[in-house]
Amino acid sequence: MKKVVVTREVFDETIECLEEHFVVDANQRDEKLSRERLFEKIADADGIQTASNDRVDEEFLAAARNVSIIANTAVGYNNIDLEACSKRKVIVTNTPGVLDQSVADFAIGLMIAACRRMGEAERYLRSGNWRSVYLKQMLGIDVNGATLGLIGFGRIGQEIAKRARGFSMRILYHSRNQVNANIERQLGAQFVNKDDLLRQADVVMLILPYSPETHHFIGETELSLMKERAVLVNVARGGIVDDSALIRALKERRIYAAGLDVFEGEPAINPEFLDLDNVVLSPHIASGSESTRKAMAMTAANNLVEVLAHGRPPLNWVNRE
Ligand code: GLV
Repeated sequence: MKKVVVTREVFDETIECLEEHFVVDANQRDEKLSRERLFEKIADADGIQTASNDRVDEEFLAAARNVSIIANTAVGYNNIDLEACSKRKVIVTNTPGVLDQSVADFAIGLMIAACRRMGEAERYLRSGNWRSVYLKQMLGIDVNGATLGLIGFGRIGQEIAKRARGFSMRILYHSRNQVNANIERQLGAQFVNKDDLLRQADVVMLILPYSPETHHFIGETELSLMKERAVLVNVARGGIVDDSALIRALKERRIYAAGLDVFEGEPAINPEFLDLDNVVLSPHIASGSESTRKAMAMTAANNLVEVLAHGRPPLNWVNRE
C-alpha cells in the first residue's frame, strides 16, 4: 500500500477517505512538527497533503525522496516551489472552486465591518463605556452605492462582484487579463488600470495570487493614490501589502480604514496593527466555514486518491506543463 502523510489536522472523514486507499500518517493532534521531524515522516511518503503554511522547497523535496504528489489544502500555492516540483516530476494540486462562495462572503463582511467600524464598536460596547444613543456616534461610511475596486478578478473576485451588485456598488477591476465582455456586462464590472482603480475606488479589495511579481503590490506609492476616505480589504495573501506602509497610512489617517484577513509573516503580525482602531483583523479565516474547509480537505484527499490509487491525472493539477 502506498503511504500518504497529512501534515496538519484535517477532518476525520478526510482521514477515513485516505485510509480506504493508503497507509496514512496523519497529524490529527495538530502537533507542531519541526522540519527535521517532518522530514523523517515524509522520507518514504508517496503523497503528502500539505497546508498553506507548509513550505515545500528544494530541501523538503530532497527529504521526500519517493513523493509523486503534493496536494495542498488551499487554492493558493505560493508556499510551494512549483519549479522545483516540476523539475522532480512531482505533481502539485490545489483546491479551487470549493471556497469561492465562502471567501466572497467573508470579503463582503470585512468590507462592511471596516466601513461601518464594527470591530471598534464591539470593543467600545464591551468596555462598558456606552452611555447613550446619539446622532453622531461612531459615524462610518456607506457601502451601498460606493465604488468597489477589485484587484484580482478570478473566480473569487467575480463572486465578490456579484455580491457587491446587491449593494448597488459601482465595480471596477484590475487584473493580469481583462475578462471577456460578456462577463463584464453580466457583473457590471469595468476594467481599469491599477492607478485609476486606486484613485477612484472607495473600497480597494485584494483578491489576487501572491508571487514575486505581486510582492508589495500595495505599498507607500499605491496607498498615496487612494482616497482619504477609502478602505483597503485584503483577503488574498500577506506580502501583497507592505504592512509597515499600511500602518503608517492608517495611523496618519491617509486612508479611512482596512479589513485584513492576511498578514506579512503571519501568524506573527506587526503589533502596531493591534493599537489601531481603524483596522478590522481576522486570522486568515476567509474560507473558514465548516462545510468549505471540509470540502477543501476532501478535494486535496481526492487528488491524492486519483493519482496514487487510480493512476489517473489529478482533479486540480497546478503544474500540468
Ligand atoms: C487560503 O488562503 C487558500 O489559499 O485556500
